[in-house]
Amino acid sequence: DWIMGDYIEEAVARIREQVGDEEVILGLSGGVDSSVAAALIHRAIGDQLTCVFVDHGLLRLNEGRMVMEMFAGRLHAKVVHVEAAEQFMGHLQGVTDPEQKRKIIGREFVEVFKAEAAKLKAADASAKGAKWLAQGTIYPDVVESGGTQTKKATIKSHHNVGGLPEQLGLKLLEPLRELFKDEVRELGVALGLPHDMVYRHPFPGPGLGVRILGEVKAEFAALLQRADHIFIEELRKTVDEATGKTWYDLTSQAFTVFLPVKSVGVMGDGRTYDYVVALRAVQTSDFMTADWAELPYSLLKRVSSRIINEVRGINRVTYDVSSKPPATIEWE
Ligand code: XMP
Repeated sequence: DWIMGDYIEEAVARIREQVGDEEVILGLSGGVDSSVAAALIHRAIGDQLTCVFVDHGLLRLNEGRMVMEMFAGRLHAKVVHVEAAEQFMGHLQGVTDPEQKRKIIGREFVEVFKAEAAKLKAADASAKGAKWLAQGTIYPDVVESGGTQTKKATIKSHHNVGGLPEQLGLKLLEPLRELFKDEVRELGVALGLPHDMVYRHPFPGPGLGVRILGEVKAEFAALLQRADHIFIEELRKTVDEATGKTWYDLTSQAFTVFLPVKSVGVMGDGRTYDYVVALRAVQTSDFMTADWAELPYSLLKRVSSRIINEVRGINRVTYDVSSKPPATIEWE
């Protein structure tokens, strides 16, 4: 029997033994794996851990604030919040190719993280410097990176960065390496992380960068964040009577895509000429194949009217009814 309390004690003891009195740096993304790794390592070594949270400006609405509230506020962990939106937007200017966008975001992420790690090393009064780089690598990542490189495996590398420890002269600390996703989630809850955080849908490393089709602009990101927030809020609020579950829990991944296309609408006495978004919601067990979710019309109707009424600049909402294959889950 796998008793979580005992597991935590063992894991904590192992981390303490491994790390001793040395310092640890961890890249916090707001995702489940890095969050649980941070909470576990913090439980073990407290202030010897410094989390670096790189905000590339392509996160979900309020994500930066939530991560800071959770880790700095509630857990009292040391967190460096790096506001790098302008830098990322600058490098993405004029770039429309999806894989190119991914590469730029991944590369900049590594650059920003390396610069922060170097600053932390330099600022350490004891001159010990950070000796460890912690990552939220879980068992399926270990297996995946041994096999053929899929799109996901390639990009995963942007949060679980291969080669980075060597470049930084740091030893690698991966306390979740032998756990499956379900176990990571249970561990997160046992460590006191909120259920909603630990049971979130997956969010790609390049974030809204691949959900804004074509060129990424701050203006588009702001519109998309607000529209997506409404969609997710309604999915979380709407309970399916047959199962008693919310539509958020009944879908594997749901999000909004920004289309840089304008269409005509009417509002009051006037004509509008504004942007379009697409809602995407899928059900899948492995993300290799996926069905579009048969969301209730009443839910779609509420989401659509809220987005159009509340997000000035968007006047049309569509629903994506494509399955994978041949479509992918993301639009880029
Ligand atoms: P696709 O669009 O290929 O997505 O059907 C399958 C799953 O992978 C996620 N995904 C990514 N995750 N970096 C990530 O960390 C990426 O570049 C990336 N591209 C897709 C996608 O959200 C879905 O869960």
